[in-house]
Amino acid sequence: MRRNRRLRTTPAIRAMVRETHLHPGDFIVPLFVAEGRGLREEIPSMPGYYRLSLDTLAQEARELWAMGLKSVLLFVKVPDTLKDNAGTEALNPEGLMQRAVKTVKDACPDLWVMTDVALDPYSSFGHDGIVSEGRIANDPTVEVLARMSASHAEAGADMVAPSDMMDGRIGAIRRHLDAEGFQDTGIMSYSAKYASAFYGPFRDALDSAPVKGVEAPRDKKTYQMDPANRTEALRETRMDVAEGADIVMVKPGLCYLDIVREVRNAVDVPVAVYQVSGEYAMLKAAAEKGWLDHDAVMLEQLTAIKRAGADLMASYFAKDAVRLLG
Ligand code: PBG
Repeated sequence: MRRNRRLRTTPAIRAMVRETHLHPGDFIVPLFVAEGRGLREEIPSMPGYYRLSLDTLAQEARELWAMGLKSVLLFVKVPDTLKDNAGTEALNPEGLMQRAVKTVKDACPDLWVMTDVALDPYSSFGHDGIVSEGRIANDPTVEVLARMSASHAEAGADMVAPSDMMDGRIGAIRRHLDAEGFQDTGIMSYSAKYASAFYGPFRDALDSAPVKGVEAPRDKKTYQMDPANRTEALRETRMDVAEGADIVMVKPGLCYLDIVREVRNAVDVPVAVYQVSGEYAMLKAAAEKGWLDHDAVMLEQLTAIKRAGADLMASYFAKDAVRLLG
């Protein structure tokens, strides 16, 4: 008789036939940077996750590298006084992002540094683009994103990660980087980024939620994708590859594993998945209540994302997971 359970009898045989393995090199570590000194400020809706100042960021970078982690994805929290509707501060060569890139590269030159490219942390409206007559203006936004990308490259970023979902931005960023002499700076595109309700804790971390009661859309549904759509994700992703994306991304993670598999089958560049802040918060909350086994569920979720087709995972669990992998 054919007995499938033979291959499940002992830990040894289970390890031998296991199809999916997690490695430190799978992870991209998102980091939140704020002004200050000696800052390690816990984000209330993301227990165990912190906003860091430049000095603690340098320590963190060295620690991550020592653990075997290979890459970070930087986000900045910008004071309200520096926000406007033009992304002015995003282009400041001495801005927090630009200083953060230099700090990480000085502390740990081999760590792969990626930067978030979108206007929301800099926007007085909390939008990823420039607001004009109550709408998000695509092409003027793309121009700023291209210059922002070159500014990050100038600061030393290895790769820029546009998370804004404007049309045509990957091609525009690629052309501008090339024209400015940054041929070797890569692009990881948030290609299929959904208008998800799972981003709440992240917006708390950066104080970047769309502002209410102003002449601007109250949500991001005119640029981020409808969670109901599948073929659109393939169209977005194929276009980004054609425009020059080195890595494409699906975001969020767990609710979108069908998309991850289809994207993995459709393109021949690495596929990253962003397990987002709300996914992190849900597990932390359930574990705090004693309702779920934190470590077991975390590893199961990360394994599922990788099994679905992720080559890389941006995850707030990266450090916890790598510690467990030993
Ligand atoms: C903004 C951006 C968001 C995230 C990454 N970049 C939030 C948003 O689109 O509103 C979410 C990440 C997370 O929730 O962990 N461009």
